[in-house]
Amino acid sequence: MIEEVAGGWIKELLDLPREASFAFTTGCQLAHFTCLASARASVLEKAGWNVNEGGLCGAPKIRVLTSEHRHGSVDRAVRFLGLGNKSIESIAADRNGRMEPGALQVALHKTQQPTILVLSAGDLNIAAFDPFDEIIPLAKQAGTWVHVDGAFGLFSRASAKFRHLTAGIEQADSWATDAHKWLNVPFDCGMAIVRDRAAHREAMTISASYIAADSNARDQIDWNPEWSRRARGIPVYAALRELGREGVADLIERTSRHCLRLVTEIGRLPGAQMLWEPRLNQGLVRFLDQRPGASDGDHDSRTERIVAAVNADGEAFFSTTTWRGERAMRVSVVNWRTSERDVERAIRAVKRALGGPDSGSEIAEAD
Ligand SMILES: Cc1ncc(COP(=O)(O)O)c(C=O)c1O
Repeated sequence: MIEEVAGGWIKELLDLPREASFAFTTGCQLAHFTCLASARASVLEKAGWNVNEGGLCGAPKIRVLTSEHRHGSVDRAVRFLGLGNKSIESIAADRNGRMEPGALQVALHKTQQPTILVLSAGDLNIAAFDPFDEIIPLAKQAGTWVHVDGAFGLFSRASAKFRHLTAGIEQADSWATDAHKWLNVPFDCGMAIVRDRAAHREAMTISASYIAADSNARDQIDWNPEWSRRARGIPVYAALRELGREGVADLIERTSRHCLRLVTEIGRLPGAQMLWEPRLNQGLVRFLDQRPGASDGDHDSRTERIVAAVNADGEAFFSTTTWRGERAMRVSVVNWRTSERDVERAIRAVKRALGGPDSGSEIAEAD
């Protein structure tokens, strides 16, 4: 079956346990939901509670430890699973956005409650990776289920150049990722991968008398939250068949190079400031208000205006974000079609928006 081949290839490409189970979901959001449903059942079973039978009323309370820089889809999955956002404890990160092992260690030993730890492989602002090789053994010693949000960042593992970023990640219990981001398959296509196949299957499976059961064939209803869904394994199979391991590595390295060039060259333009030099495919730039005495708020407003002007130009699309309390232009490159020429056009569009002397200015800035 194509889906089994595609799932096997993804585990091989990302070097995750080959015996792990997997599901092709709509995206990383539902991959979190699937993995964390398995985590919820597993940590409660260890505490003597069967959540699939007994639900959460009367169950021991679960806590979820996760980075202060986590993606909002983690909070949302926790909410969907009935754990409530109050069960989330944010763990401090360092200047590079990486979870502090010391802070985690304190939190892990604060109570004996069933605990799930959610780590990040590539946050959306700076592509920060938590220090998996330090953190996962601490969590395992404390009997914690470790889940990883690797929506785009997990694919960096396909490149020897970036492999160090995810050292130790294979020790986790579950991983959520997206094929519709860096692998560039059409929307929608995420993946949930779970080490404990039984926990995954028990959290998702259902049978009904009208569904043909062939005990030898993979049935997605055993692994997915959806009852019906389209064959998401096929575009993944096609993309991997076309690219091969080298092709994926080239895609990761090429788009990361484009991001580095965009951020460094835009960051050198007059009035621009590079906030984060990309180490992978995400970086940040801010545009400063040059008037004497300009405040942080003025720099924020100017950043918003410049990004809006670039987007109105139609040459490139950037979003804004807040990082360490400052508004910034977020530079993120994942598309396989992005070329050197596109990068140059995008840089020229920013120059025009800034109204630089060699900008060939077409855009009147709305100051
Ligand atoms: C780090 C991270 N996690 C999770 C998600 C959610 O992914 P999806 O939209 O595929 O559900 C995103 C989406 O941008 C993301 O960047």
